[in-house]
Order: sequence, then C-alpha cells, then structure tokens
Amino acid sequence: MKTSLSLEQLKEAAMQYGTPLYVYDAEKIVSQYQHLLSHFSSQTTRFFYACKSLTNIHILNVIKNAGCNIDCSSINEVKLAIHVGFLPNNILYTSNSVGFDEIIEAVQLGINVNIDSLSNLEKFGAKYGSAYPVGVRIRPNVMAGGNLKISTGHDKSKFGIPVTQLDELKTIQEKYNITITTLHIHTGSEIKDVHIFMQSAEVFEKMLDQFPAVQVLDFGGGFKVPYKPDETGTDIAALGNAVDAFMQRMIAKTGRALIAWFEPGKYLVSEAGFFIAQVNVLKQSGETIFAGINTGLNHLIRPMFYDAYHHILNISNPGAQLKNYAVVGNICETDTFAWDRPIATIHEGDFIMFLNAGAYGYEMASNYNARFKPAQVLFETGVSKLISRRDEFEDLLNLQVPLTK
Ligand code: LLP
Repeated sequence: MKTSLSLEQLKEAAMQYGTPLYVYDAEKIVSQYQHLLSHFSSQTTRFFYACKSLTNIHILNVIKNAGCNIDCSSINEVKLAIHVGFLPNNILYTSNSVGFDEIIEAVQLGINVNIDSLSNLEKFGAKYGSAYPVGVRIRPNVMAGGNLKISTGHDKSKFGIPVTQLDELKTIQEKYNITITTLHIHTGSEIKDVHIFMQSAEVFEKMLDQFPAVQVLDFGGGFKVPYKPDETGTDIAALGNAVDAFMQRMIAKTGRALIAWFEPGKYLVSEAGFFIAQVNVLKQSGETIFAGINTGLNHLIRPMFYDAYHHILNISNPGAQLKNYAVVGNICETDTFAWDRPIATIHEGDFIMFLNAGAYGYEMASNYNARFKPAQVLFETGVSKLISRRDEFEDLLNLQVPLTK
C-alpha cells in the first residue's frame, strides 16, 4: 500500500468520522501527478485530470494547486472546475451524446471543447464557422481496456467519430471552414499496453496532413493502475519515451508546435482513496463465511458492475491469521464485494478497508435502498478534514415535494 497514510491514521479517521467512510491522501495524488511530469517532456505534454473519477471540490483544489489542468465530461463538471478557480484555458470538455446547448454553453465559458459526433460538428460549423477552435474525438476501432464496459475505442462503441468516416469529417470541416485544432482519442480505461496508446499515435499521424490547423494530439486517459497486490500498471516511463519520441518526429515532419495532452483519472486518484466499512454480521453457511458489512453496491459499485477487484484489509486486526471470506453488502440484492477472499480473521465490528477507492467509488455512489451516502475525508500534511458530510434523513426528502395533508 504506497500511501503516506498509516493504518493507524486510517483507523482513527474511521473512529472519528464514523463508517462507511471515504478517505483520500492528497500527497499521493500530487506524487502521482509528479510521477507523470517526470516521465514526459514538459515542452510537449499537458495533463488534464479526468474529474469524472472524483469531483469533490477539495480534491479538485489539490489537483489545481499541483498545477494540473482538468478534463470534464459534463457542463456541470465544467462549472465545478470554474468554481474551484481553474482558468478556461486549463479546462477541457470532452462531450459525448450531449445536446448542442451544452456545447454553446462551453463555448461561452471559453474552454477547450472536443466534439464526438458529426452531427454536433455540423451544428458547430453552422454556428461558429472558423471563429472558435475546436477538437474532434476519433474512434480508432481498437479494442482495449480492463473490461468491455470500460472499452471505448472499439467498432461497436458509441464514442467518437469512427475512423472510417474521416472523409465525411473533412467535408464538414471544409464546408464551414471549422478550425480543428485538436485530435482526440480515448481508447478505454485500464490500458496497460503502451502499444495501444501508440496505435492512437498512428491514427494521428495519418490525419495530420489533412487537418493543417491541428496543434494538439489528445491521447485521452486510461493508464492502468495496480488493483491486485501483485499487479503492475502502465509503464509510465516507457509510455513517456514513446510519446516524446513520436511528438519530436511529428514536430519535425510537420513544422508545427504540436503538443500531446492526456486525461488521467484513475492514475491520479485511484490509489489515493480508501473506503472503510464495518462488519455488521458474520454468517457461516456451509463452507462459506459471509462477512456482512455496513455498506453495499450503493457506495462502491465497481465489483458488481465491472467485476472489479478491490483489495480488502482488516485494519482492526491486520496481523491475524488469514481466513477466506465472502464479503457482502447490506443492500437488498446480491452485492458481493469479494468471494473466497483471504483476509485477516474478522470479528463483528472490525474495520474493513477497500483499496483503490479514489476513482469512481464515491463518484458512482447512490442512495439506493434509501441509505445515506457516506462522508468523505481528506488528509493533507498528516491532518484530516471532512470534505463532504454523510447524508442525514432530511437529505432523502430534500428534493421530494412534501405530501399535502
Ligand atoms: N478521458 C475520457 C474521454 C474518458 O472517457 C475517461 C474515462 C477518461 C479520460 C479517464 O479514464 P481513466 O484514466 O480514469 O481510466 N467507471 C469506470 C471507468 C469509466 C471511465 C470513463 N471514461 C470504472 O470504475 O472503472
């Protein structure tokens, strides 16, 4: 567990703020960003944090203060970024299937915009002509990513303009004289293989001649981080070398001041987050021991939705003998976090901690079964602070129109 936080600090946070609880380590976020910076040329690379992975404004503030830019997937994420003080030039909005009114709003805010359909590009051309530089998202027809649900570049994916429709793209660009300054490809999430990123580079290289205003080659996000103890993530040093060399070659070939952009989400926040719950019930059933905990798919859906592995530690009793458990939630449907998982011997009341909970954990949480969303806590320089409170009963009623008597 590479974090600046000790198990003792995490346990104390659980006792102080109650469980279930999301805890984040600001230092880890910053060190992940610095690791990226150290392996890519600062002249030809910019990073935009894919904030869909975790949008709490205190986290966005850590990212902003580290000097990182921000990538948004909805106009409300853009507004959160502006709220935190990101400058328009440092905000990127990669839209998909959005109404054109959102794109108009993004243009009014003066941010960078990537468009992912010919339909919206046509509307964009008709409204803005060459007046506002814009990016286009291309779908390379490459299958890659940790799981089908998080693979976005294949030929059945809803994302991007298919690479087979470049002629139509060029026709629309010429018809309205649109200033296309960015080519964007995001192939999927949890891509370990550097070669997959370089397939995007090949598509970019083929397109550069046809699109003479292009300055930015946006490789999207999707760097793999280790989830299992023996796993390794994307080799960032190798990726940095390959992309730097490619960019130098493209700059020499085109004579343009090209720059590469990346949109990491998981890479910046996944390992910086911990989700702590408590064991309500132990239940022996045949060979299986169920550990029923005070959370469920309403708070961490990744294991059920993507069959994702999250490493689980018993932080109340970390040194105890390992036993196999089925760790299950308290939601009224099957919400299994782990099956047959060796964990240090569990007693009812123990604190159970999920690793890699920073990205798409709290962010995908809901109030299913009318349960409260958990609180979130951020550690900075060894000190913890509450960054969003746990729901209260009134929150369940807040948006509902009161009954009339
Ligand atoms: N850029 C674009 C255009 C994206 O669609 C995404 C993620 C990213 C960047 C950031 O990808 P990352 O670096 O985080 O892999 N909820 C799923 C992941 C969905 C990813 C959606 N797009 C999960 O929990 O695995």
